Amino acid sequence: MKNVLVTGGCGFIGSNFVKLLVNNNEVFPVVLDKLTYAGNLNNLDHIDKNEYIFSEGDICDKALIDSLFKKYKFIAVFHFAAESHVDRSIDGPEEFITSNIVGTYNLLEVSRRYIREIKQDFKFVHVSTDEVYGDLEDGAFFKETTPYNPSSPYSASKASSDHLVRAWGKTFGLPILITNCSNNYGPFQFPEKLIPLMIINCLNNKPLPVYGDGKNVRDWLYVMDHCIAIYKVYKNGKIQDTYNIGGNNEIKNIDIVNIICETLDELKPLKNKTYKNLITYVKDRPGHDLRYAIDSTKIKEKLGWTPLESFESGIRKTINWYIDNETWWREIQEKKYAQNRLGESV
Ligand code: NAD
Ligand code: DAU
Repeated sequence: MKNVLVTGGCGFIGSNFVKLLVNNNEVFPVVLDKLTYAGNLNNLDHIDKNEYIFSEGDICDKALIDSLFKKYKFIAVFHFAAESHVDRSIDGPEEFITSNIVGTYNLLEVSRRYIREIKQDFKFVHVSTDEVYGDLEDGAFFKETTPYNPSSPYSASKASSDHLVRAWGKTFGLPILITNCSNNYGPFQFPEKLIPLMIINCLNNKPLPVYGDGKNVRDWLYVMDHCIAIYKVYKNGKIQDTYNIGGNNEIKNIDIVNIICETLDELKPLKNKTYKNLITYVKDRPGHDLRYAIDSTKIKEKLGWTPLESFESGIRKTINWYIDNETWWREIQEKKYAQNRLGESV
């Protein structure tokens, strides 16, 4: 089986993607991950250790990437590795510039030299976000042609990396593909993000911090549907093209929190009260985008992708996963992140 490089394969989406690759059994994943606070080897525990190779390292380490390319002769790179949390990019943007921009540049450079020397099929799949398009007015949708207008240091760093990837495609002929996806949720998401944070705070009987008035809208997609879409783009996407991916699930933050509370009221009832009593409105996130919504027509029509999970089934699966995997998140709480507020000050 031919090898592929999965950067950030110990993170939330990357680890779900490694699972998909192992199930598909068409290419062999070599995971490169720096194991930052968000990277977790436990995320790969449920996968047979013979089915992937793990290499601990930084995408900013060009010599390491070079040696991995020489050793494993990759036919593709799936580039997930990034600093991914908007609030942390407000507290400290530097890591975002380094990993998301310089790290992507390193991967592009090594890939470009490699395909010049070794003439074989190769694809560079860059995993990006809908946040590059910025705030969206009511009734509009992000299309692949929507101009970039990022608001946070995180989204600006991802926008920069997208521009680099496109430039390496146009100028150097690197066979690139770009995906821009909406908000993911599901198993193994680090509990700094809205959905796992709210579920775990409920389970810990702690306040549920809703930013601003809670009316900001995100378009939610179950993580495995995102992974399936990325794999379809890899297999059948047009080289140098971009594909938007979204679940068509536009939901206000406060409605998400209410759904989580209602589901837990049913699954883990409290005596004579509802989890909704824990909802607390807090100071808004600086630069908080009001609305995101993806138009997925292109990937649906060109590649025949459609999400398998509805929001109702996906959120229930996710809540059950966090209930069943308390050891996973308790260890994170003890060693890495106690779910305190991030990104408040400017
Ligand atoms: P995550 O924070 O859970 O995981 C990121 C992983 O990258 C971690 O394992 C971390 O250790 C690794 N990493 C970070 N910097 C690194 C470096 N310099 N070298 C090597 N490894 C490094 O993130 P996620 O939510 O899984 O997101 C993965 C990718 O998908 C990101 O590029 C993100 O921008 C993109 N994305 C995320 C979402 C979402 O809703 N989570 C939506 C669309 C796109
Ligand atoms: O749109 C795709 C992006 O989605 C990805 O590129 C990012 O990597 C991912 O983190 C996510 O970004 P968001 O900022 O939308 O996700 P987050 O879970 O941080 O916040 C979702 C919404 O919930 C947002 O409007 C802020 C709000 N929020 C978040 C937290 C953590 C709260 O109201 N309270 C909270 O405690």
